[in-house]
Order: sequence, then C-alpha cells, then structure tokens
Amino acid sequence: MSDRNLLKLAFVGCGAIAHYHLNGIKEHVPEIKVTAAIDTAKENAELIAAETGAKVYSSLEEGLVDGDFDAVDLMLPHDLHESAAVQSFEAGKHLLLEKPIAHTLEACDRIFAAAQKTDTVFMVAENSQYWPEIVKAQEMIKMGMIGEVITARATYKMEFNDYWFKGKKPWRYDKSRTGGGIVVDGGAHWIRPLRMWMGEIDEVIGILGHPLVGMEGESMAKAIFRFESGKTASFEAMLAKTVIGPSIWFCITGTLGEIHIEGGLEGSIILYNTNNRQGRKIMEAQGYPQSFGPELKDFAQAVLEDKPLDAGPEKAYGELRTALALYRSAETGHWEKVWD
Ligand SMILES: NC(=O)c1ccc[n+]([C@@H]2O[C@H](COP(=O)([O-])OP(=O)(O)OC[C@H]3O[C@@H](n4cnc5c(N)ncnc54)[C@H](O)[C@@H]3O)[C@@H](O)[C@H]2O)c1
Repeated sequence: MSDRNLLKLAFVGCGAIAHYHLNGIKEHVPEIKVTAAIDTAKENAELIAAETGAKVYSSLEEGLVDGDFDAVDLMLPHDLHESAAVQSFEAGKHLLLEKPIAHTLEACDRIFAAAQKTDTVFMVAENSQYWPEIVKAQEMIKMGMIGEVITARATYKMEFNDYWFKGKKPWRYDKSRTGGGIVVDGGAHWIRPLRMWMGEIDEVIGILGHPLVGMEGESMAKAIFRFESGKTASFEAMLAKTVIGPSIWFCITGTLGEIHIEGGLEGSIILYNTNNRQGRKIMEAQGYPQSFGPELKDFAQAVLEDKPLDAGPEKAYGELRTALALYRSAETGHWEKVWD
C-alpha cells in the first residue's frame, strides 16, 4: 500500500473506548496504521502499542513534537477535549473526536472555531450513526416497511461494573468533567438513532435521578422528546449497581408494524407486522461493537479520498443540546427547547 493510501493515526487517550476503535480498525480499515499511542497512564498506551507497534508518548505535546502521524483519534475525558482538539488543529492534524464534542456548548464552539482555521478533516465519532441494527432500521423505515412512523422508544440501561474503574474515583462521577451524567455520555448513542429515524428534536421534558451513589451527575433520566414534525418519542437511561434483566433497547411503531432492536451489545432487529405477528428477525445480530469499524472507515475515506462524511461534526450538537435541554427541564418542570 503506498503512503498516499495510508492514514497514520495517533490514539490520544488509550482507555476503554480505544480498544473498540482498535478492533474496528483491525477488522475493517487496513488503510489506518496506529503509529502513536498517547496516554498519561503509560500502561494504557503500552497496551495499544503492544497490538499496533505504535510509539508510546505520555502527552499530546510530546507526540506532536516527535510522532509520525497525520490524524488524531481523540478519546479523552470530556473536559480535556477542547485543549487537545485545538492543539491538534493548530498542528495541522485531521481529527476524529469522540462524543460529546465537549462538556459545554462554549467549549464546542471554540473547537469549531479552531477547526475552521484549518482545511483538515473534522469528524465527531458518534458510532450509532454506523451501528448495523440502527442503519438497518433506517433503511426499513425509508422502504416503508412499518408505514409511517407514529412514535418510538429508546431505553438505555446498563449495569454498573466496578471493574471498569479499577478502584479509582472515575472521572465520570464528576459533573464538571463530563458536562452532566449518563445522558451526555452513553445516552447520546440512544438519542442519535431517534434523530436518524424521526428528524430533529424540537423540545424536551423530563426528570433526572441519581441511583448510582457517588456519581454527581444523573445516573437516571426519563424524558419525552417532541420532534419538529410534532411526533414524540420516549427516552430512558439508567446506570445502576443492580442486576438488569433483558429489555428492548429501541422500539419504533409505525402505521403498519413495529421494529424492535433487542437489548444487549449484540441484540437482533425484529420486524412485527400482520404477516409476522410473532416477529421476524431481519438479519443476524451484528451489534454495537460492529459500529466502530465503519465509523473509522468513514473517517479514513474522508481523509484519503475526500469522501463526504456520513454525518458532519455539527450534527453532534444535537445530542448534547438535547441532554442540556433535558437538564433544564428537570429544573423547571417545563418543556425546554433544544436549539434556542
Ligand atoms: N462511542 C462509545 O460507545 C463510547 C464509549 C465509551 C466512551 N466514549 C467516549 O470516549 C472518550 C473516552 O472515554 P473512555 O470510556 O475511553 O474513558 P477512559 O477513562 O477509559 O479512558 C480515558 C483515557 O485517557 C487518559 N488520559 C486522561 N488524561 C489524559 C491526558 N491529559 N493526556 C493523555 N491521556 C489522558 C486516561 O489515562 C485513560 O487511559 C469520552 O469522550 C467518552 O464519552 C465513547
């Protein structure tokens, strides 16, 4: 493969999600080579380096001085997105930035201002845009397989696992670091699909809860979204130290039937209609982890082939603004606009 067809990528932040990105690259994106693994926790960078041959650095500054890469895959805690994104743009790097864009709208705006000063590719990594079951549901809706969409329900419930945090206080417990709680974080991946299927969200009403002791931001949310079309969907998110039974992650009801996406990282997609009252599996379950390969592929093709992104980075304002509107609604008890 010639260099023109090779994207040299630095991982900045080599924690939990970095391994999903790496698996996606290994399975789907031979044109990406991870050449730098950057993390303040050397052991995390070394795990990525062991699998890729990447050079290890303990800071982005160090990597930018010595490293050999054209693009940055930024996977840091939310409050660190802005400074690292701006540094990357100033160094002329292409940027794939994990969601949310940043922990405040002001920080997001500053990232976009820095992006505008370069001609490099900027993409926000919202992997549900590429989640095979979500994409299939979008195709089915477009094909009219459930008629006109009436409403939908998104349910994101996860069992908290201490193992993820190795005994240390996780940055996710600190609201000033995340910009909120579960809704700005994992909840985003349940909000994007609703927007893909039903259009832009206009306003939100909801409540928040705190079942996860020690987490400052919300670990539970229940909300109704009203779309610009006037249609509504319900949204529920929870992270709790308990045992959670199976639930349907997404249900889309139309005038001719219903689509279910089963819970679990490898849930199937099922169609219910008059011919399939017991439900028909539409494809073999592929699952959430299979979203990362196509996501990284989209980024690589945008850099190497000038291919337009599936969704521009500004699209990711929608998940963050929806979360912020929900936070305001929990305070006021009223419907709150997403885009005002
Ligand atoms: N798409 C998804 O499904 C998904 C899932 C989880 C996380 N995320 C996103 O990925 C990002 C990272 O989350 P995570 O779960 O991987 O977090 P994590 O805590 O597992 O990893 C963060 C890594 O950043 C490192 N780090 C912290 N400060 C640093 C600094 N100044 N310079 C270099 N490295 C530093 C930490 O040592 C750690 O290895 C967040 O934006 C999060 O919202 C996305």
